[in-house]
Amino acid sequence: MNTPQVAVSILSADFGDIAHELGKLKDAHADLIHLDIMDGHYVPNLTFGVPVIKRIAGLTQIPMDAHLMVTNPENYIDPLAELGMRYFSFHQETVYHSHRVVQVIRSRGMKAGIALNPATPVSTLQDIISELDFVLLMSVNPGFSGQSFIPIYSKITELKELIIRSGSQALIEIDGGVNSENAAKLVSAGADILVSASYIFSGSDYATRIMRLKNQQ
Ligand code: DX5
Ligand code: ZN
Repeated sequence: MNTPQVAVSILSADFGDIAHELGKLKDAHADLIHLDIMDGHYVPNLTFGVPVIKRIAGLTQIPMDAHLMVTNPENYIDPLAELGMRYFSFHQETVYHSHRVVQVIRSRGMKAGIALNPATPVSTLQDIISELDFVLLMSVNPGFSGQSFIPIYSKITELKELIIRSGSQALIEIDGGVNSENAAKLVSAGADILVSASYIFSGSDYATRIMRLKNQQ
């Protein structure tokens, strides 16, 4: 049984006491802090940008995973690299020259990923998969936490096959509606990183829920 990494999306955290929340996530062994950056244009919701992330970066040692849901992700590459961002993903529809953007992200020392919406096919990654450190597959439509999971299992399998066929080392990250009910099936289909917001923050015991995702119970 593979153990996935758990990336906790702080979209559902208590921003009134974010330092305490980050401390609890550290104690609960969160592998990554997933940052959902939304601009109110690419998605119909607005979250936070660089100044807030700078504050968060100063409050945690947990590696950070930036998920850009914005129309101009290029503008965030340098500022987020300077904050020590570990993972940086952008939505494929948001850039004209994805190959160039991926190269810039990597040249700044971050792991580069492309995010695909539920309706965007895996085949669009065919000519760039060997350049990617990870692929983020959305299992909800981007914009909000707390939405119902869309069963994308066959898409994960298809992506895994493309990764193997092309000799890529890309990891597969699944984002949206992940919980203890679907974790096992996601991991057996090929998921390496599970993102979760509402499931983790549905009660105060974060450690148990993070462990359930890791152990797929
Ligand atoms: C949605 C975000 C997700 C979201 C996950 O646009 O990319 O990261 O916060 O939330 P849950 O786990 O509640 O679906
Ligand atoms: Zn996300």
